[in-house]
Amino acid sequence: MADSVFNHVVRAPEDPILGVTVAYNKDTSPNKLNLGVGAYRTEEGKPLVLSVVRQAEQSLVNDPSRVKEYLPIIGLAEFNKLSAKLICGADSPAIQENRVTTVQCLSGTGSLRVGGEFLARHYHERTIYIPQPTWGNHPKVFTLAGLSVKYYRYYDPGTRGLDFQGLLEDLGSAPSGAVVLLHACAHNPTGVDPTVEQWEQIRQLMRSKQLLPFFDSAYQGFASGSLDADAQSVRMFVADGGECLVAQSYAKNMGLYGERVGALSIVCKTSDVAGKVESQLKLVIRPMYSNPPLHGASIVATILRDKDMYNEWTIELKAMADRIISMRHQLFEALKTRGTPGDWSHIIKQIGMFTFTGLNSEQVAFMRQEYHIYMTSDGRISMAGLSSRTVPHLADAIHAAVTRAS
Ligand SMILES: Cc1ncc(COP(=O)(O)O)c(C=O)c1O
Repeated sequence: MADSVFNHVVRAPEDPILGVTVAYNKDTSPNKLNLGVGAYRTEEGKPLVLSVVRQAEQSLVNDPSRVKEYLPIIGLAEFNKLSAKLICGADSPAIQENRVTTVQCLSGTGSLRVGGEFLARHYHERTIYIPQPTWGNHPKVFTLAGLSVKYYRYYDPGTRGLDFQGLLEDLGSAPSGAVVLLHACAHNPTGVDPTVEQWEQIRQLMRSKQLLPFFDSAYQGFASGSLDADAQSVRMFVADGGECLVAQSYAKNMGLYGERVGALSIVCKTSDVAGKVESQLKLVIRPMYSNPPLHGASIVATILRDKDMYNEWTIELKAMADRIISMRHQLFEALKTRGTPGDWSHIIKQIGMFTFTGLNSEQVAFMRQEYHIYMTSDGRISMAGLSSRTVPHLADAIHAAVTRAS
């Protein structure tokens, strides 16, 4: 057999987040628990398809007039319109004035990538500031899009809260015009969000320095249970008439993870600019994947356009958010009962899918080895992967890690 022309290829490490699941799948313990990946699970530990999504899919299947033609490059027009309304608010003047261009993309990641490539081609400042820490894929997505990535301070390990002063200083010394990535809500991995007053200060600082906001909205409705409350940061920036980008994902809030459905909106100063921006977005998308998939966007459009389905969605979404919040309380109480050393109140203060526990990488390794509990090495746990049944096991493990492991 001749040698492969790929002999020189070295094995790449697993993705730090998705690799947790690979290790979990290899574990044969009946007590194993995967708190690594950010996907919702029921109390029974099962993936959830929302009942409103099943209904929407049924109505799509039952409609014989539906065909499988290609979508346009920018995707399903109705989906784009409804997505912009969902994030900006139904009565947003920016939408009424046709200043928002929205393109359907491959979930949140694809929306970030298309937005990044557009900026690298057409925006004068190629530096993007991302929070320290942030979702592990952000620096890779933006670097490959052609932007240069820098960090701004965000999290204070001492308080396990926001390093607001550090954030203001770093954005204050960023070059005028730089792009700034902001998590719209439920910051991943820390679960720490600015308050409304802090958002207002961030907005004023950014507008005074012409910093360009690029919102990543991967958890609208998932943080608080309210779609409006979780969009507030974005809406404050849209309401001031300035420009911004927003990447939306329906992975978490509609449970459409594998359907890869999301949208990139660019809010512009005028409708003329928005039209030109859209024409260039098409040139980014066409050679990348030609046009986006039809099914997921059709599900979302079916739900968003129908008043009853929309209401049902908000109820199911709130139930998911409430279950996560209840897991926070149960874990906090379980640690209190065990007298685990330290202040664990951040578990109930943080918001969204994740708790940034403050456990170090040795403690994380200890919990994997001794308790078969899997999480990312930065000590982030997905609260959505917990249930009333598994909370005691996790609390035992944290207690042992804190009291025994170094
Ligand atoms: C902060 C953040 N942005 C974007 C995404 C993108 O997810 P997706 O591409 O599945 O929509 C995620 C998913 O975990 C995330 O946590």
